Amino acid sequence: MNPPDRIPAGIYNAIDYERLAPQAMDAGRHAYVAGGCGWDSTVAANRSAFGRWHIVPRLLRDVRAGHTRLALGGLDLPHPLLLAPVAHQRLAHPQAEMATARAAAATGTLMVASTLSSCTLEDIAAACGPARWFQLYLQPRREDSLALVQRAEAAGYRAIVLTLDASIQLASRSALAAGFAMPPDCTPANLAGLAPPQVPALAEGDSRIFQGAMRHAPTWDDLRWLLARTRLPVWVKGVLHPQDAVALKDAGCAGLIVSNHGGRSLDGAPASLAQLPAVRAAVGGGYPLLMDGGIRSGADAFKTLALGANAVLVGRLQMYALACAGALGVAHMLQLLTEELHATMAQAGCAQLCDITPDTLTPALPC
Ligand code: FNR
Repeated sequence: MNPPDRIPAGIYNAIDYERLAPQAMDAGRHAYVAGGCGWDSTVAANRSAFGRWHIVPRLLRDVRAGHTRLALGGLDLPHPLLLAPVAHQRLAHPQAEMATARAAAATGTLMVASTLSSCTLEDIAAACGPARWFQLYLQPRREDSLALVQRAEAAGYRAIVLTLDASIQLASRSALAAGFAMPPDCTPANLAGLAPPQVPALAEGDSRIFQGAMRHAPTWDDLRWLLARTRLPVWVKGVLHPQDAVALKDAGCAGLIVSNHGGRSLDGAPASLAQLPAVRAAVGGGYPLLMDGGIRSGADAFKTLALGANAVLVGRLQMYALACAGALGVAHMLQLLTEELHATMAQAGCAQLCDITPDTLTPALPC
């Protein structure tokens, strides 16, 4: 289904990759990537939240020394646009994460490799630049989680991103309707060879959720265990409640990612952007905070930075660009997003990321 790796006609903005992706992916795979869970209400909320804010242009400011460089987690990055952990990238392209990693290396972008990647974390590390973090799903057995962490340390990943919001994920209704099933060549390469955990049968009256799916869900005890066992900084992804944010900061996490998993975990969860200001207020100004969910343009990234994030992550856009044009597409999408951010900053009179303060925005009037 994938066309040859060249930039397709009609791509003017990063979001055009979303528009063209259905032509590059079969319907089931596209539905799986595009969908959220349940009725997709949180997917929609993530996007509509950006419409609640306008960016106010400023005049006569000299931005000729403008740039988007930042220091994050000990890395010097050219821009605050990160590649979110996205599993099963062979769904989008035969080269899967190897193509994404090459695009990350070419553009200096920080890539977060998923536990559930189609390629091994070692192969991704070899193709990626030094700016790489490993996203961890805790495994039912601690020794398996520890083995993943130690492999990530050995492969030169610079941080662990612990995702905590996906212990249960309801299926996407659109993926179900399209008859999607995970193809055998998309199984998670990092977990090959792990014996499936022994799962005792549910007793009569047990809940399939509480005593079933949530049996191995991480707890505060697991977080403390992980923090004590790795020398890498640990970021937590999936934070929406300000009280969780404060407790995670106090527990010793290096930083947090405000996220609702792209609307794929709890249908009805608020937009990431809607929660961001309260989370920022709770953790204070100096604490590292990232956000993802619904980012499709440089203007979206600008609004996110203005509302308190130090950097943003893009999820689905990387899969759409990968499907349309492989590594070239992902690099092109990142270049377009970066230029869109530059253009937005220039017009808002911001020469550096630290100029993107809340007062660069104004609430949109209710329609
Ligand atoms: C994801 N996401 C995700 N998150 C994570 O921590 N580990 C993972 O393996 C995955 N896998 C994954 C697969 C697919 C197909 C999608 C669409 C998303 C969530 C991802 O990191 C991010 O939070 C969202 O994608 C951000 O929203 P947008 O940018 O897709 O709107």
